[in-house]
Amino acid sequence: DLTPALLLRQTILGLSRNDQLRDAIERAPISRDVVHRFVGGVSAQDVLRVASELVDTRRSVTIDYLGEDTVDPAMATSTRDAYVELLRVLSEAGLTHDGTVEVSLKLSALGQALGRDGNTIALENARVICQAAANAGTTVTLDMEDHTTTDKTLWVLHELRQDWPWVGAVLQSYLYRTEQDCRDLAGAGSRVRLCKGTYKEPESVAFQSKADVDLSYVRCLKILLEGEGYPMVATHDPRLVEITSVLAEKARRDPDSFEFQMLLGIRPEEQLRLAATGARMRVYVPYGDEWYGYLMRRMAERPANLGFFLRGLATK
Ligand code: FDA
Repeated sequence: DLTPALLLRQTILGLSRNDQLRDAIERAPISRDVVHRFVGGVSAQDVLRVASELVDTRRSVTIDYLGEDTVDPAMATSTRDAYVELLRVLSEAGLTHDGTVEVSLKLSALGQALGRDGNTIALENARVICQAAANAGTTVTLDMEDHTTTDKTLWVLHELRQDWPWVGAVLQSYLYRTEQDCRDLAGAGSRVRLCKGTYKEPESVAFQSKADVDLSYVRCLKILLEGEGYPMVATHDPRLVEITSVLAEKARRDPDSFEFQMLLGIRPEEQLRLAATGARMRVYVPYGDEWYGYLMRRMAERPANLGFFLRGLATK
């Protein structure tokens, strides 16, 4: 059934494949500020500036070089190289010590979808990035994509953690399997980012209603906070942020033994408020040539952002 909300979402997702609109937005200097609310720019230098500003306001950062679903080995290599260069730039600027600014990787952008050997290619590319991160004194988190990749990504995580135990994972509370994955990954030294999940998943593998996804989030949160690892609580949901604080106190967690994470440009006042309470707050900053698809997906997730975007275009 096509509700107005679903129709709007589909229209926006349709626009995400419209190259003319992308070019128009890119050319219009008026929209730059608006785009930059959600995207850290195109080049490593752009994102360096954004990261420095966040660090200056007591927020740490994880940077995602945008590019997904690579079916071209050369593109996977160039994504890998972009990360290595980014880590060099960040390290030279003194931003990577103690993981202040780290990087987030999508294995699909590193070759995971390249046929039978895809996962091994992605692993080898990720190894190069992990070594560069280790040299820079920082960490890496593997983003989680749709459910057909969960096992493959957790296998890559397991392999990488043999050499770099600080490599972080992402688990999605909308998947039925995730409570068990939380138990498996709640051990000492692990870093787990818990999010609700952003892909359209079938009923056979995922909760469909917001209420069920939220309840699962709380169950997973409890497991992670009561475990011995380092939970990374990625949500903008005010109720879940509050519940996290209560559960963390119950589990006798120090404020520096877990962190909150939010996306660049979303609830920035809340990010600053949490940081001011002494909580650890990390901002996820995407950047790169492929910013347009990312922006449109955020708009589709929450069409209220579209109003903000169009108003900015009209008034700037
Ligand atoms: P949800 O979308 O249910 O919103 C709940 C409430 O939060 C809203 O009612 C509102 O109050 C507030 N809110 C949400 N969005 C807002 C906005 N734009 N402006 C103002 N208020 C807003 N997914 C994935 O599948 N794999 C991954 O690797 C990651 N990685 C990741 C990293 C980080 C740091 C974050 C924050 C998120 C992800 N995600 C992700 C995305 C995640 O799965 C999810 O799609 C979004 O975070 C949206 O879910 P929320 O938890 O914010 O709640």
